[in-house]
Amino acid sequence: MNHPNSQVRFWAVKTIGKIDKPIFQTELLKILETETDTTVKREAVSSIGRQRNPQNKPLLFKALEDNDPKIVCRAIRGLFVFENDKEVEDALKPLINHPNEMVRTVIYKEYFAHKTIARDALPHPQTHDFLKNIVVNADVIDALKSVPDESVHLTFTSPPYYNARDYSIYQSYEEYLNFLNDVFKETHRVTKEGRFLIVNTSPIIIPRVSRAHSSKRYGIPFDLHPFLVKNGWEFVDDIVWLKPETSVKNRIGGFMQHRKPLGYKPNAVTEYLMVYRKQTEKLLDWNIRSYEENVVNESKVADGYETTNVWRIDPCFDKIHSAVFPVELCKRVIQYYSYKGDLVFDPFGGSGTVGRTAKSLGRYFFFTEKEPTYFKYMKSKASSKGFFNDIETKFLTLSEFQTIAKV
Ligand SMILES: C[S@@+](CC[C@H](N)C(=O)[O-])C[C@H]1O[C@@H](n2cnc3c(N)ncnc32)[C@H](O)[C@@H]1O
Repeated sequence: MNHPNSQVRFWAVKTIGKIDKPIFQTELLKILETETDTTVKREAVSSIGRQRNPQNKPLLFKALEDNDPKIVCRAIRGLFVFENDKEVEDALKPLINHPNEMVRTVIYKEYFAHKTIARDALPHPQTHDFLKNIVVNADVIDALKSVPDESVHLTFTSPPYYNARDYSIYQSYEEYLNFLNDVFKETHRVTKEGRFLIVNTSPIIIPRVSRAHSSKRYGIPFDLHPFLVKNGWEFVDDIVWLKPETSVKNRIGGFMQHRKPLGYKPNAVTEYLMVYRKQTEKLLDWNIRSYEENVVNESKVADGYETTNVWRIDPCFDKIHSAVFPVELCKRVIQYYSYKGDLVFDPFGGSGTVGRTAKSLGRYFFFTEKEPTYFKYMKSKASSKGFFNDIETKFLTLSEFQTIAKV
């Protein structure tokens, strides 16, 4: 055990781990306290765990305090064998606040996951009739209070961009992020187990106050991401929406003239589609198997689907709403991340592109839109042939929605 060669020490530890004798506990404790080679130290913890001896619990508790997350995880694994052990539970549960994410995930799954995932009142493919094909003119936070747990199959949305348009004025960036945090926390509650949230955002620039100041750039997707993960959204993919250079604001003009380093400002031709899944222990297969075979077959994506995470799509312009989704973008998201008959939610409905596309693809939609101008705009378009594909769409005030939600 004191051999200068770490390989020898490693094999010594592995071997004495197989001999469950109290004398070796002192040796293993010494290794935990003094060993400098991480491989040897990690093996010591695994050895202790493999002994499954309740007398070793103090050693494993000690290993939980180690700086190396892999040692902590091995100690956790060693302690998990002592089922229904109050002492072990009391030592492990506080690790939900451990600085390391792997440690937090393991503890979450063991002690918290099944308690925080809301139970689905309906079979997985089904949702409540009162949520089908409706637009609610309300603040999303108010409307979501009337939506039962686990009602939504897919959320696809583009949140208001921080102070970039009239409808998105917040006192501070912090207030803005906290607002989105609240929205996506509630969205998590109303989302069915293991289903997806796709958020379209991009960094924005707030122009400078005067020539004496600089403009300020906000990395919205990157700043929002930690909030989503903390609320139980598991990060899955980042899809880049690539637009033609001619369609975006020209920022490179100045640099083209002066060519001075540091003054380089590329034209921003991309936006992100951040893909998240509601955290679950179940595999995607579980979600898919919950649908009837004919629904799976009818929902299969036809040839011509996108094979990379860079989607080249032209932006779309609208005379009333300044930030509308192109239908092609909605089509791809809805086809790739939902089944026919699913409920697609957009908390920031805008001009209604997500709903219209969802309907045309055999899905139901539910969205909220705060601004009366856009709500009325959707309503006026709904009467024109083909916009929402039928006349079933209901346009409701908050109180009307609250009333039908209670029935
Ligand atoms: C970026 S736009 C969405 C555009 C939409 N994707 C489309 O294709 O038309 C964001 C929308 O969110 C709405 N909005 C902002 N804050 C809201 C809130 N608290 N509740 C509901 N809607 C809100 C804005 O009025 C705006 O129409």
